[in-house]
Amino acid sequence: MKSKFTKKETAPLENIEEWEDDLLVRYPKPKSEQAKSKEDYRNYHDSERVDTVREFYRLNHQYQTYDFVVEKQKEFLAFDKKEMAFWDAIDYLNTLVDDSDPDINLDQLQHLLQTSEAIRADGHPDWFVLTGFIHDMGKVLCLFGEPQWAVVGDTFPVGCRHSDKIVYPEFFGANPDHHDERYNTEYGIYEPNCGLDNVKMSWGHDEYLYQMMKDYLPEPALYMIRYHSFYAQHREGAYDHLLNDHDKEMFKWVDKFNPYDLYSKVPVPPDAKKLRPYYEDLVAKYLPDTLKF
Ligand SMILES: [Fe+2]
Ligand SMILES: [Fe+2]
Repeated sequence: MKSKFTKKETAPLENIEEWEDDLLVRYPKPKSEQAKSKEDYRNYHDSERVDTVREFYRLNHQYQTYDFVVEKQKEFLAFDKKEMAFWDAIDYLNTLVDDSDPDINLDQLQHLLQTSEAIRADGHPDWFVLTGFIHDMGKVLCLFGEPQWAVVGDTFPVGCRHSDKIVYPEFFGANPDHHDERYNTEYGIYEPNCGLDNVKMSWGHDEYLYQMMKDYLPEPALYMIRYHSFYAQHREGAYDHLLNDHDKEMFKWVDKFNPYDLYSKVPVPPDAKKLRPYYEDLVAKYLPDTLKF
């Protein structure tokens, strides 16, 4: 089943961090807050990376069709792959490190902790901190052999026209849905302002983790998890016509979350060991001991 894509097609990026690094180029930290972040920009403009990121989006835009999403939902939302204790899942996720350049790339746990610690430092409620801490756990999909472009990358609605506000919109020309008249009109299979709960998104770590967490966290947390990669909406407002009023209210939380995800890299990484007891309590307060993947 997995051999449908070649190795090159499965992993166009050297590591999945490259997508997030590229987001920083597209959405740099506002100038006024940039003082300490010069570091973040090293290497981002080297052309090799631009090429791999481009190839990543080419594959993402070509293969993320409505049918592909249906197939992936069937495959992964049964949650019958693996059962793991929460902290084992974090360790497992952390095996997703980039070997090619260990000095530059933080491990996944560090990104999660930096995000959640920045949220905590700003005095937000504990469930918001927890959201920061778990928001990328869905990336374990990569460890199940999934193509990078079906785990990370900007997400977008499928079943209706691809907005030209999505990064590299020209690559959608190779997506069969682009030429399918059921799917290529402004609303496609949807009704005006039908609400995002009725809209299928391209498949990736966001929807996967949302489905895993939906019984355990408050609604704003679930919106943050589910739509944190939906840049075409939370940064560009390209799909206002599908959102209902409730979505619009809830997207204020998605907006609030995004800077913590993108701009929380700090020069001195948080001390994971020291922080562990705090996060153990926090996780125990909201989540079951074991999670199904
Ligand atoms: Fe993410
Ligand atoms: Fe993230």
